[in-house]
Amino acid sequence: MRKLTNLSALFLSLLFTGLDGSLFGQNFQDVSAKATPAGYVGGNVCKACHPDVSSIFYKNPHFKSVASGKEPPERTGCEGCHGPGKEHVAKGGGKMTIPRAFSLMTPAKSLDTCLGCHVKDLERANIRRSEHTLNQVSCTSCHSIHHPAGPKSLLAKKQVELCGGCHDDVRAQFAMPFKHRVNEGFMQCTDCHNPHGTFAPPMMMSQRPRMVRTGLLNDQACMKCHVDKRGPFVFEHAPVRAGGCIQCHVPHGSSNAKLLVRPVAFTLCLECHTGAGDFGKTGRGVPLQEARTHNMLDPKFQQCTLCHVRIHGSNADATFFK
Ligand code: HEC
Ligand code: HEC
Ligand code: HEC
Ligand code: HEC
Ligand code: HEC
Ligand code: HEC
Ligand code: HEC
Ligand code: HEC
Ligand code: HEC
Ligand code: HEC
Repeated sequence: MRKLTNLSALFLSLLFTGLDGSLFGQNFQDVSAKATPAGYVGGNVCKACHPDVSSIFYKNPHFKSVASGKEPPERTGCEGCHGPGKEHVAKGGGKMTIPRAFSLMTPAKSLDTCLGCHVKDLERANIRRSEHTLNQVSCTSCHSIHHPAGPKSLLAKKQVELCGGCHDDVRAQFAMPFKHRVNEGFMQCTDCHNPHGTFAPPMMMSQRPRMVRTGLLNDQACMKCHVDKRGPFVFEHAPVRAGGCIQCHVPHGSSNAKLLVRPVAFTLCLECHTGAGDFGKTGRGVPLQEARTHNMLDPKFQQCTLCHVRIHGSNADATFFK
């Protein structure tokens, strides 16, 4: 206490004795009463000058560590994030005196602060190599500790606003005629993406991972909802496994029905089934010259999936008729 001015020392003792805890009806663990590492004063002291932040802190998931009373001072309460507050209090406040004022921190330093406690789960997401981290988008770009938009995950804004705010091109895709209903709130970006990063899933090796979630057994994000497409099937349609869903579908939105990558389905099929016998000597290409079954001048044969209905794979028929 040697460094304190008389005035703030008086002020402090007032807080510790008279006003302690009762001020906002919530008790912070009073670490000052115990032997504490140098510089930690506990959260009660902060209330007097930061009532707005302190009065709602009991609702914050970070209050759990305070309530449990089991954590050491450097891992709990206000100082768990902002660092030891003794000097800050002694000098009567100010951004320069608190060890970790986020408004003065680089994205990298604020990321390190949060990862100090959250490293275990988020390293699993490869967060340091995520496209967000590499582009200076860090925890506080998306999370607001003190002024969250809702109770879940302390997000700074509702998710669709949050992600859409930076990715307005993507938000626009979800307004196209055929789309997943993200803008309407039926699903969220995080149903398919992990904004904290990802590892490249084996089945999409050829593409960039794009922070797309890998589901159970490294399945694609899509299988979580479209379980009927998961297989395994007795007769697989090779590209569903090899290239993944996005070989034929756009994930966000499109002017093409069924979110197909091409306006007309048969043109998509013919990109691979060229009729040139590309797929080995059995000639997996559509026999285009063969008038009996695949005469492309006959509109009937352009409706490939009218006959090959189980286009994602079949347990009954090698040509996907049923
Ligand atoms: C989990 C980490 C964390 C904890 C715990 C925490 N803060 Fe913060 N604090 C932040 C971050 C991050 C910011 C930067 C603004 C933002 O993103 O909301 C901030 C900003 C502030 C600000 C600037 C004004 C404002 O409203 O943004 C004050 C003052 C503050 N914190 C005080 C406190 C006090 C007092 C406590 C304890 C009751 C506390 N903080 C607990 C992370 C934390
Ligand atoms: C004597 C009053 C006082 C006390 C006690 C106090 N602060 Fe502050 N604090 C201030 C003032 C004044 C500022 C500067 C505000 C500004 O410049 O906008 C400040 C700024 C901060 C900031 C900087 C936010 C930013 O990034 O701009 C943080 C964080 C903070 N205080 C946390 C704490 C914590 C944690 C405690 C308790 C350990 C605490 N304060 C106790 C007066 C106080
Ligand atoms: C690009 C935006 C973004 C960034 C950057 C970000 N988060 Fe998140 N975070 C989210 C969203 C969105 C959720 C909610 C996920 C959900 O609902 O499935 C979330 C959820 C969480 C959760 C709740 C548990 C979980 O994994 O779902 C924690 C903890 C978390 N984030 C911590 C962090 C930390 C720490 C950082 C920085 C190292 C960070 N986040 C960076 C967007 C982000
Ligand atoms: C001192 C350790 C510590 C630090 C530093 C810390 N957190 Fe946390 N965080 C926790 C604990 C403990 C929880 C509660 C976990 C639980 O619910 O069991 C938590 C929960 C969260 C949650 C989950 C909220 C939910 O709804 O599930 C988010 C998001 C989060 N922290 C983000 C951050 C961000 C962003 C930072 C950096 C500004 C940060 N944390 C810094 C310890 C910390
Ligand atoms: C139905 C699953 C799904 C949903 C929901 C989804 N995405 Fe995607 N997103 C993907 C897939 C799969 C890719 C990879 C596409 C590729 O590599 O061709 C991708 C790619 C991206 C890309 C990089 C390529 C590009 O188009 O710019 C961004 C950015 C992106 N998504 C942002 C978002 C945002 C923001 C949201 C929410 C508003 C969202 N996504 C919702 C599945 C989804
Ligand atoms: C503060 C701005 C910001 C916010 C908020 C934000 N992003 Fe990003 N995001 C970026 C930047 C910058 C990049 C890298 C450049 C690019 O691809 O546009 C990026 C890249 C991505 C990518 C592409 C990864 C790749 O490999 O190309 C996806 C997917 C993505 N963000 C999803 C999301 C989702 C989901 C959310 C909401 C949870 C979100 N973003 C919130 C700024 C943001
Ligand atoms: C969170 C659940 C969920 C996930 C994850 C998901 N979808 Fe969907 N998908 C739906 C729902 C629900 C519909 C029904 C259309 C609607 O919402 O109006 C749908 C519709 C579709 C359609 C048909 C559209 C039509 O016009 O009939 C295609 C194709 C599709 N999804 C592909 C994908 C692909 C590819 C992925 C992975 C990148 C994916 N989905 C991930 C829920 C999901
Ligand atoms: C070889 C191209 C191709 C691949 C790969 C593919 N699809 Fe499709 N998918 C189609 C075609 C073509 C249709 C339209 C069928 C129709 O109109 O009868 C379709 C229709 C759909 C539909 C809507 C109708 C239905 O059957 O429910 C969904 C949902 C769908 N696909 C999801 C997926 C998912 C999830 C994946 C990845 C596991 C995937 N698709 C991979 C070509 C493909
Ligand atoms: C990305 C390339 C690709 C696209 C697009 C594609 N296929 Fe295939 N298809 C293949 C491959 C590879 C095989 C497996 C050939 C083999 O086993 O030799 C196959 C097999 C088939 C078979 C089974 C042939 C047999 O062995 O009896 C049918 C039927 C089929 N495709 C129809 C379609 C239809 C209809 C479409 C359009 C909706 C389509 N394919 C789109 C690559 C593709
Ligand atoms: C009117 C029903 C019908 C339509 C429409 C149809 N097919 Fe077929 N397809 C068949 C039948 C029947 C066979 C198996 C008999 C045969 O021709 O050898 C077959 C076989 C195939 C095979 C396997 C050929 C091989 O050599 O083993 C492929 C690939 C194929 N079709 C692709 C397509 C594509 C691509 C389209 C759309 C451009 C299409 N089919 C439209 C009925 C149809």
